[in-house]
Amino acid sequence: MSSANPSSPRPGPSGSEKRDLVSIEDLSTEEILELFQHADEFRDNLRAWSDLCRGTIMATLFFEPSTRTRLSFESAMLRLGGGVITAADEKSSSRSKGESLADTVRVVGGSYADILVVRHPEDGAARVAARYARVPVINGGDGSHEHPTQTLCDLYTLWKEKGKLEGLEVVLCGDLRYSRTIHSFCYALARFRANIVTMPYPGFELPDYVLRRLRRDFGVKTGAASVADLPGLAGSSNAAAYLTASEPHQLALFTQLGPVEVNRIDAIYMTRAQRERHSGEETKNYPRLSSQTLRAAAAKDARVMHPLPRVDEIDYDVDADPRSVYFRQAELGVPMRMALMAYLLGRIQLRSRPRADHATNPGVDSRSSMRCRNERCITNGEGVRYLERDFRIRQGVGEAPSLECAYCERELEVRCVGHLTRRWFDGCSEQLVAAVPPSERVWFESEEQARAAGFEPRKPSDAVGQ
Ligand code: NCD
Repeated sequence: MSSANPSSPRPGPSGSEKRDLVSIEDLSTEEILELFQHADEFRDNLRAWSDLCRGTIMATLFFEPSTRTRLSFESAMLRLGGGVITAADEKSSSRSKGESLADTVRVVGGSYADILVVRHPEDGAARVAARYARVPVINGGDGSHEHPTQTLCDLYTLWKEKGKLEGLEVVLCGDLRYSRTIHSFCYALARFRANIVTMPYPGFELPDYVLRRLRRDFGVKTGAASVADLPGLAGSSNAAAYLTASEPHQLALFTQLGPVEVNRIDAIYMTRAQRERHSGEETKNYPRLSSQTLRAAAAKDARVMHPLPRVDEIDYDVDADPRSVYFRQAELGVPMRMALMAYLLGRIQLRSRPRADHATNPGVDSRSSMRCRNERCITNGEGVRYLERDFRIRQGVGEAPSLECAYCERELEVRCVGHLTRRWFDGCSEQLVAAVPPSERVWFESEEQARAAGFEPRKPSDAVGQ
């Protein structure tokens, strides 16, 4: 983390380090499963917990429209006996006067509120909020980046419906490019070694950075899928892909992934076209799930899921089908969020250990002029005024290291590595990177960038180490 940012973790109300939920990766698998058990307890009698968080205040800072996420958080906190303050309308908050997110959370996260839930249109905004607030921050959706609490509700619903999460077959359909719910859900499904079939609306496939991460962090392999018997969905895309966790895996058959016949689907997850994030792209003939789709043999035991709001992606007559669980997903949002907040506030303890923080892999020095290439990243948006660029090193086994924006987690292609004191640069092979001490390492996206920063190509006589 850059030195200009407030980096030291603040104590949480339980006396331990504060915990945020920015990415679904911030929770360990064991924590997720244990939270489900607490959610079940809360759900058994929603009205029995009004002492658990008495005296605490939650603030919802929503700079984008929301119905379910904000209201379920507010309901959850009220049911826990806490209080709620909200800035739900961008026009009525100081953001409309040009106040930064960092300043807002510095003020609200402290004497005003003990926990913050933030929704923001820019990718990476939740990480900014988490860094600047002294209290736990929950990401209520940041641009097209992530929506981890929706994923908790989705997983919780699936877990209740199917009795397990390991190895399920899940079809993701629609706008997979901009749906933040999809991105968080994918990472979690991969962790539970689910097989994912993507059926994007053409042009709205899973972004490359999500796919790369699925491959690097979860060993996911991709292949073509044959889902021709899903009418309404199949017609929308001729590029269904099959993503499967490599090991251990119950379908050993797919070690050489060729075209896969999908004949047992556990869930079909529909998403609406995220028009607010499109730049005028057409979405004619967007996939639509009908009762006919559900007549397909493969969909016999499928659950129909949707984070809502639904626009036209699911016919209304599907609502009566017992396999439709989208309203259940929304209903389970209250006990799930009660469990999450009670945990982050230190009002319930879990036996499970947190994950080693995936966001604390080594940061890199940003002495060069690198910037995140994701134009929707907060570092290129409101953060231009105050955020220092911050990249972390990511390295898959046998791969040359790459850099990832610490806010929106988009990868940055780096071609050269330089030696700070010796002022040389060279192509960034795994060996060379390892040989240059971290304190001397500088990264460049191109030779031109390295030369512009005053570095010269490495000569055979140039030493690599210290
Ligand atoms: C989703 C969101 O905001 O990303 N809604 C929600 O929180 N349940 C999905 C959407 O808006 O399409």
